[in-house]
Amino acid sequence: MQESNGALNIASRRGIYYQAFGIYGGAGGFYDYGPAGLRIKRKIEGLWRRSFVDRLGAMEIETTTITILPVLKASGHVDTFTDPVAVCTKCKSSYRVDKLLEEAYSASGNEEGYESVKKMKAQQMGEKVKELGLKCTKCGGTLGGIEAFNLMFKTEIGHGSGEVGYLRPETAQGIFVDFKDLYRIHGFKLPYAISQAGRAYRNEISPRQQLVRMREFTQMETELFFNPRKEQSELGGVRIGDIKDRELLFASAGEKERMVKIGELLEKKLIPNFYFAVMLDIENGMLQKMGFPEGRFRFRQLEPEELPHYSKGNVDLEVNTSYGYIEVAGNAYRTDYDIASHARNSNTEICVNEDGEKVVPHVVEASMGLDRLLFSILDCSVTSEGREWEWLRLGKEIAPYTYAVFPLQKDEKIVAFAKKVLGELVGAGMDTYYSETGSIGKRYARADEIGVAYCITVDFQSLEDGSFTIRDRDSAEQERKKLGDVVDKGARA
Ligand code: GLY
Repeated sequence: MQESNGALNIASRRGIYYQAFGIYGGAGGFYDYGPAGLRIKRKIEGLWRRSFVDRLGAMEIETTTITILPVLKASGHVDTFTDPVAVCTKCKSSYRVDKLLEEAYSASGNEEGYESVKKMKAQQMGEKVKELGLKCTKCGGTLGGIEAFNLMFKTEIGHGSGEVGYLRPETAQGIFVDFKDLYRIHGFKLPYAISQAGRAYRNEISPRQQLVRMREFTQMETELFFNPRKEQSELGGVRIGDIKDRELLFASAGEKERMVKIGELLEKKLIPNFYFAVMLDIENGMLQKMGFPEGRFRFRQLEPEELPHYSKGNVDLEVNTSYGYIEVAGNAYRTDYDIASHARNSNTEICVNEDGEKVVPHVVEASMGLDRLLFSILDCSVTSEGREWEWLRLGKEIAPYTYAVFPLQKDEKIVAFAKKVLGELVGAGMDTYYSETGSIGKRYARADEIGVAYCITVDFQSLEDGSFTIRDRDSAEQERKKLGDVVDKGARA
């Protein structure tokens, strides 16, 4: 796979994100965000919050990132959350074997081989490594047998207690563990969604592709609890009739993607239920708002062999990037797997009272990877169309700043007026920055590079009639406007 280019250049030149611990030489799989990157990240999170939490009337919570052993034993992560690893017999370098095989197939253009890796068990992977003659890429040594490596970071809670804790591998478990208390306090009716955004940790064997495979990353997860015995036709005011004719680019297991109506996905049982359909529809809308070009993302139904240990059906949301298709969200029908297991393991009854009946809710999950979404949108939106510089055609809702304010010249009165415009915009809750450094062309270029939505330039005419130019990033066209027009527009902060 080739290295990402334009987005990578901008990311490093403008410090959107960069390797953590740089002065110590960095550490694989850890990245920090600079000011523009953090703003874009927060905007994506804000869009997720509006799309899922607000749209579904969900409850958003924040749970601990250190998790005690019994929780992750019950969830299956202690026993099954592993990747296949092989160690070089000579230099002791470690390799994630499925990725090693995928890379080998990809390099030789063997698409079928590449796809087959997803279905392989550890033993088959070992045989393939031998058959293809794969060696250590660092020293050429022979690779040893395949072991299962648990991806969780382990720690001890307190001094000498022997009490094992883990950095959480997913935010979802906090939601499942808190479900009983949340139901007791809030007494909601099913279907009901609970969301959480926050850090998760996985000790990747070979982190790579920048933000795609990190060891510390941010998830945005929504768990939708429902009564499996009840008709499913409405969620957060959305009815099946509202969405059945909407089309998604969808690949059924093992097939090529095509535009499919949501109604057809349900009729042909390509997705488990109506609630699942609503999640896919929300994600589709969210990616459109982020500015992903048509056709650059698809939903892919996973093959049975690819399903996580808790799932009875998964559809991944994948973006076609310069690294090939990468998963940016996983949608899973988790059934009652987690709730039932936590009930058993904690000796607690976890259920909901529905019309006098005790119901153990089932769950569909929409789990989005924030860093991967950010990487993918940079990768897909970078362009040099119509300019002599690279710029980001980000959806305006996720632009790091909605406005940049520039005085045309460092004239005292123009500067004062420009700062007044800045103050009014910031006061109206619009994210805005100010710059008087460099030529106006350079300032436009620097704003475009990080995807600022609009540039406002204050000039001599501003002093006469209070108007200024406002330049749209995408068309580079300018109009004259006044503060009232801009503030009244009510752009989102
Ligand atoms: N909660 C799903 C995942 O973390 O993959």
